[in-house]
Amino acid sequence: MKDSIRHLIQQALTRLTAEGVLPAGLSPVIQVENTKDKSNGDFASNIALMLAKPAGLKPRELAEKLVAALPADSQVSKVEIAGPGFLNFFQNSDALAQRLEAALADPRLGVRKNGVAQRVVVDLSSPNLAKEMHVGHLRSTIIGDGVARVLEFLGDSVIRQNHVGDWGTQFGMLLAYLEENPAAAESGLADLEQFYRAAKQRFDESENFAVRARELVVQLQAGDANCLRLWQRFNDISLSHCQKVYDRLGVKLSMADVKGESAYNDQLADIVEALRDKGLLSESDGAQCVFMDEFKNAEGNPLPVIVQKAGGGYLYATTDLAAMRYRSQVLHADRALYFVDQRQALHFQMVFEVARRAGFVHAGMQLEHMGFGTMNGADGRPFKTRDGGTVKLVDLLDEAEERAYALVKSKNPQLDDSELRQIGHAVGIGAVKYADLSKHRSSDYSFNFEQMLSFEGNTAPYLLYAYTRVASVFRKLGKDFAEVGGQIQLGAAQEIDLATRLAQFGEVLNNVADKGTPHTLCSYLYDLAGLFSSFYEHCPILAAEDESVRNSRLRLAALTGRTLKQGLELLGLQPLERM
Ligand code: ARG
Repeated sequence: MKDSIRHLIQQALTRLTAEGVLPAGLSPVIQVENTKDKSNGDFASNIALMLAKPAGLKPRELAEKLVAALPADSQVSKVEIAGPGFLNFFQNSDALAQRLEAALADPRLGVRKNGVAQRVVVDLSSPNLAKEMHVGHLRSTIIGDGVARVLEFLGDSVIRQNHVGDWGTQFGMLLAYLEENPAAAESGLADLEQFYRAAKQRFDESENFAVRARELVVQLQAGDANCLRLWQRFNDISLSHCQKVYDRLGVKLSMADVKGESAYNDQLADIVEALRDKGLLSESDGAQCVFMDEFKNAEGNPLPVIVQKAGGGYLYATTDLAAMRYRSQVLHADRALYFVDQRQALHFQMVFEVARRAGFVHAGMQLEHMGFGTMNGADGRPFKTRDGGTVKLVDLLDEAEERAYALVKSKNPQLDDSELRQIGHAVGIGAVKYADLSKHRSSDYSFNFEQMLSFEGNTAPYLLYAYTRVASVFRKLGKDFAEVGGQIQLGAAQEIDLATRLAQFGEVLNNVADKGTPHTLCSYLYDLAGLFSSFYEHCPILAAEDESVRNSRLRLAALTGRTLKQGLELLGLQPLERM
C-alpha cells in the first residue's frame, strides 16, 4: 500500500512539473508513513512540506495542488490535508478486503518480488575448519539462512556458498602435532577441539614446532601426498561436525554447498597474472599488492590489498577474488551477498573494488557485504565459558533445548514426554535463532537465555505461542485454514488494523531481501501477533452471532495464521500446532 501511495504521489509530482508548478529536475525521496491516530487516515506523507521551498509556495498551497493532481485510485477512499501541509490518505476498506481475499487464494500469500528475479549467491556460515564450530559462527549461519529463504520465496534463484577456511596455516600446526604424536590420530580426531588446543599450545611454546608447522603448510600447498591425505581427514571430520550443527539448527545447508578456499587453489596464480596484465599490481617489500587511491590508513598512507606474499604464498584476498570471478563467470550471479563479521568490512570494500577494476565480475553484478556485530555474553562482554574458553556451539544448543523443555513442561505437565522433547527442541533452537535474527545485524548483541526464552516480548516462545492460538481456533472449529467460506468485510478498528498490517507482508519481505535485514520481518510478525491479540479480544470469532461476520473473522484469522506460519518458516523456525 505504501508503495502504491508513493507511486500516486510520483504521478502527481510529474504532472505538476509538466505544468511548471514544480521546477524540473527534482527527484525527492517520497516518504509515506503509517499514521498513529486513524482519525488522520491510514498513511501520511510530508512531501508538500519538503517541496514547498523549491516550488516557491506555502506547504498547504502545494498540498492542495498535489491533491488535485493525484490520480484516482480504488484503494484510496479520500485524501485530506492536515496541519502545516501533511497529506493524509484514507484507505478504502473494501479494496483492502479484496487484497486480503487475493492473498488467501494464493499459496504465496499475494507476495511478489519488486523487480525481476535474480540469481543470487549467498555466502554464509563459512567457518574455519580444523576446529569445531563455536558461537562466533552462529550469526552468519542463521542470518544468512533467513535471508536466503526470503530471497527464494520471492522467486530468486539462490546459490548457497559455504566458503569454509580449509586451507590456512592452522593445518600446518595440526600436521606437525600429528607427526609428533602419531598415536593421537585416532583418539585426537574424535575430539578435534581438544586436538586443536593441544597443537596450538605446542605451537606457542616451541619455536622448533612452529618452524616445522610452517614447513608442513608449504609441503601441503605443494601437493605432498601424505600431507594432503591427513588434511583431507581433518576436513572430512570437521565438515561432518558442521553438518550435524546445520541439521540440528534446521539450516538449509548441505555438503553440496561447500566450496571452500582450497577449491580455488589452482586459480590463484592466474588471478595474480590477470591483475598484472591489467597493470594493477605493484611490488612492496617483495609482496604483490594492489593499491587504490581511495583506500588510505589514518596517516594518509596507501593501504595494499596483498595478493601474493614475498615467499610466493597466496592470501585470503586472493581466494576471495577467485571466488568472485567464479561466481560471476561460472555461476552467472546477478548479486552476491556476504554474511561475514563487520570487522571484515574494509577487506570486502577493497576486494570488491579490485574485482571490478580487474573485470573479474560483470559490470552489473551487485556485491554486498552484509556485516554483523559480535555476539557477547549476558554481561555484554565477549562470549566465553566460565574459565575463559570459547563456548562450544553444541553445548550451547544442548542447554537451550534443556531449558526450553523444562519451561514447556512446567506449563504443560500433562503432555507426554516425547511431545515435550519435540516442543523443547523447536522452542529451544527457535529461541537461539530468533534472538539473533530479531536484532539489527550490524549491532553487537548479548546472548541471554532468560530473555530469549521469555513468553513476553519479541521472542520465539511468544511468536510460536501466538501461532498456536490461531491454530487452536481452527482446531475447536474442526476445520483448517482453507475450509472457511464467506468473505472478509472490515468494520471494527481492530479488524482494520490487523488487515492493514497483513497487507504489508510483501513489502516487508522485499525489504528483507534488499537490505539483508531479517529483524524487520521479526518486528513485523511481533506486531502482527499483537494486533491479532487485540482483534481476538474485541471481536468474538466463533461466538459471533452473524454467520457472515463469523466467516469474515475466521478468514482474517486464517490469513493471520498463514502469514505467521510462513513468516516463522522464512526465519527458519518450526511452527508448532500446540505447545
Ligand atoms: N572463514 C572466514 C572467517 O571465518 C569467513 C569467510 C567468509 N567468506 C568469504 N568469502 N570471505 O573469518
